[in-house]
Amino acid sequence: MKNIVILISGRGSNMEAIVQACATEAWPARITAVISNRPGAAGLQFAQARGIATAVVDHKSFSDRDTFDAELARVVHGFAPDVLVLAGFMRILTAGFVKQFEGRMVNVHPSLLPAFTGLHTHRRAIEAGCKTAGATVHFVTAELDHGPIIAQTVVPVLPGDSEATLSARVLAREHLMYPRAVRWLVSDLLRMEHGVVTHVSGESQLV
Ligand code: GAR
Repeated sequence: MKNIVILISGRGSNMEAIVQACATEAWPARITAVISNRPGAAGLQFAQARGIATAVVDHKSFSDRDTFDAELARVVHGFAPDVLVLAGFMRILTAGFVKQFEGRMVNVHPSLLPAFTGLHTHRRAIEAGCKTAGATVHFVTAELDHGPIIAQTVVPVLPGDSEATLSARVLAREHLMYPRAVRWLVSDLLRMEHGVVTHVSGESQLV
């Protein structure tokens, strides 16, 4: 049984999708905690209602990133994670934090990486005239929104799309892709060679 710890900052819809898939697909894993850097994160209530341990490490209580990350790491380690899942966790993590969880920490980012790292990805894709958009699940490295790609999902950018309509289209696909990618990870179905991640039995990583 692998322990999964999930970090959120807000709504937590990807966390919900992972919690539900873990239960209904009987993964060899359990969600041991959901941790937020915002006390008001809506996702905390969902986790509590499901009987999952929750914790808050409020970034506003810390004067710098290093002390915040040190406390976050202490709390995360307390739940003994085999896999650490960032699900809409909107804090930049220090290299010191990342090193402690390298190879077992994953993130979902709402763009086709390496395009559009950072914020406002959907607005920027529309403004650039992109005809496709999407999202990426990747291992977390010290470089923001970079790291070996586990899965990607692609959607069209339609004429008249707004940031809201495009992000809703992408989010629906994130809810399919992210649980699948985390299941692969906890089931030891991923291999990495020269920074490239492949599924051991060739399941499509384009979701
Ligand atoms: C998701 O769209 C996720 O891709 C994005 O935040 C949203 C969180 O939604 N993550 C990032 O932008 C990370 N750089 P959720 O809280 O409902 O899962």
